Amino acid sequence: MDKYNISTKDQYNSIYKDSITNPEEFWSEIASKNFIWKNKWDTVLKWDFKQAKVNWFQGAKLNITENCLDRHLQDNSEKTAIIFEPNNPKDSSEKITYRSLFERVCKMSNVLKEKGIKKGDRVCIYLPMIPELAISVLACARIGAIHSVIFAGFSSNALATRINDCGSRIVITSDGSYRGEKIIDLKGIVDDALSECKIVDTVLVVNRINSKINLVDGRDILLKPLLKNADKYCDAEIMDAEDPLFILYTSGSTGKPKGMVHSCAGYMVYTAYTFKNIFQYQPNNIYWCTADIGWITGHSYILYGPLANCATTIMFEGVPSYPDFGRFWDIVEKHKVNQFYTAPTAIRALAKQGIKHIIDKDISSLKVLGTVGEPINEEAWNWYDKNIGKNKCPIVDTWWQTETGGILISSIPGIIDSKPTFATFPFVGIQPVLMDSESNEIIDNDVVGRLCIKFPWPSIARTIWGNHQRYVNTYFSTFNNMYFTGDGAYRDADGNFRITGRVDDVIIVSGHNLGTAPIEDVINEHKNVAESAIVGFPHEIKGNALYGFVTLKDSSNVSDNTKDEINKLISDKIGPIAKLDKMQLTEALPKTRSGKIMRRILRKIAENDFDNLGDISTLLNPEAVEAIIKNNIR
Ligand code: WT7
Repeated sequence: MDKYNISTKDQYNSIYKDSITNPEEFWSEIASKNFIWKNKWDTVLKWDFKQAKVNWFQGAKLNITENCLDRHLQDNSEKTAIIFEPNNPKDSSEKITYRSLFERVCKMSNVLKEKGIKKGDRVCIYLPMIPELAISVLACARIGAIHSVIFAGFSSNALATRINDCGSRIVITSDGSYRGEKIIDLKGIVDDALSECKIVDTVLVVNRINSKINLVDGRDILLKPLLKNADKYCDAEIMDAEDPLFILYTSGSTGKPKGMVHSCAGYMVYTAYTFKNIFQYQPNNIYWCTADIGWITGHSYILYGPLANCATTIMFEGVPSYPDFGRFWDIVEKHKVNQFYTAPTAIRALAKQGIKHIIDKDISSLKVLGTVGEPINEEAWNWYDKNIGKNKCPIVDTWWQTETGGILISSIPGIIDSKPTFATFPFVGIQPVLMDSESNEIIDNDVVGRLCIKFPWPSIARTIWGNHQRYVNTYFSTFNNMYFTGDGAYRDADGNFRITGRVDDVIIVSGHNLGTAPIEDVINEHKNVAESAIVGFPHEIKGNALYGFVTLKDSSNVSDNTKDEINKLISDKIGPIAKLDKMQLTEALPKTRSGKIMRRILRKIAENDFDNLGDISTLLNPEAVEAIIKNNIR
């Protein structure tokens, strides 16, 4: 990445200028110099935000796995591609070389082909953070199948919804998973899900916990023997630049998750280029992102971005608290990690433990620290800077989304200074704007507004699987000719961006996006629930937590278990991450005269901010507010 390698502030400024005055030439240069193509493009960019149509590198032919694997075999076949660090520190870690990863991916590709999977077919992957997860993802990409990874913390119901939405006839899973001291019966969850998924005819099962696996005849097959017999070479399918590479679900403001579709070429170019520059990755560095591959961060910055750069990337199966809260620092010390990328919620949980788990660890290998997923508060930022970075590691606060495919706003180590709680500046090629409530672009600095992006970048999602109109409506109809992020932001006097949080019905809990509507829908399924409303409130570790206000059909019929039943329902239907931290049963919810629930007031109550409820006299039922305050659970 020579010409457009960002290594000084002046260079950033001049590259940024090039990238927006002549975006096509800019991206075309990056794409031609840094990747292998079977065929170059005819057109660099075609776009129309009104119809939500974006096309990059049209006419090009490629396979992303040739860029992530094959091309490294000549000079770097023995270099470690993935370091697998298991849940239990007593088990040994595994170093997978580029050669071995290539062969294992090919074998898996051949297994999938043998099961009839071909280009364009969807493959759902429901696996813990073990090598087979990375291998399955890459195998799909190799044969042109569209992978859809479903985070292994989701419930059977959430899994079934996603399998049915994308129409996958195959699921790759494992007998179970380890998470700290817990063992989770993944296969059991899959079995439950599949009772609602008639199209699935094949389940490939990885043996992880060595449990006795209940194999459904004619449907379930153990992977190990299949892989053993598979050929270790598989041709890479030739893909069009715009062919879908994967679908990844994200929650929205209705009950149905949105299957964001990313395409091959643009996604590859953008994730690889951002990875190299934002983490300032150097050839022999060891890079670790603690996310799960079930989220976009794992797709872009555990797998595709690092592997396209021939990096060494760590996959960690466990949790930060097992066997104790020193685990992250043990891993940093053990593998001499140079770049460490995690989420504010993890930083806060670790900070709460003080420094007792850090002082005896040698974490001096660290050079760059990263954070992602939600706004980071100043206290957590300072703790991270001081105790982990020892005040010498730049922190990159990277703002982006499942929909954006890669990082859009971030500082760059040694080039664009970090500023606590600010994501800082747009990456090259990115044109963020702030919009006011009258849909005008705000030109000044030191202002807040709604964050939009006014020009396409290569890794923008192309559509929502099966529902392009929803894609148009959600992202391109609020502001004319702009991609609307759903976030609010502040731009300071120098042009640094601080993301202030969601301005829609999504609440970010421990870095996970949760739509309030889908959770309310589930609560309302409880036989005695009439109505519910969920709002967020600040939480020391999770950033935000969920507070549910619930009205019952028959309040004389409240059993002691009602709240537990509601939380169990949420856990079963969505997943434990969506459980309510606080729940208040109430006679009525405050409504406007047109019958809309006044969430603004509920939010204030949840935040304990009773003095700023605003004018409640215009409500249909102001007495509901008084009753809620009177019975407030704290
Ligand atoms: C939402 C996207 C992109 C990877 C993980 C989340 C929030 C993300 C930051 C940050 C403040 C952030 C935004 C965004 N967010 N990164 N550095 N500072 N907020 O992906 O699940 O699609 O969530 O996460 O609100 O819109 P996602």
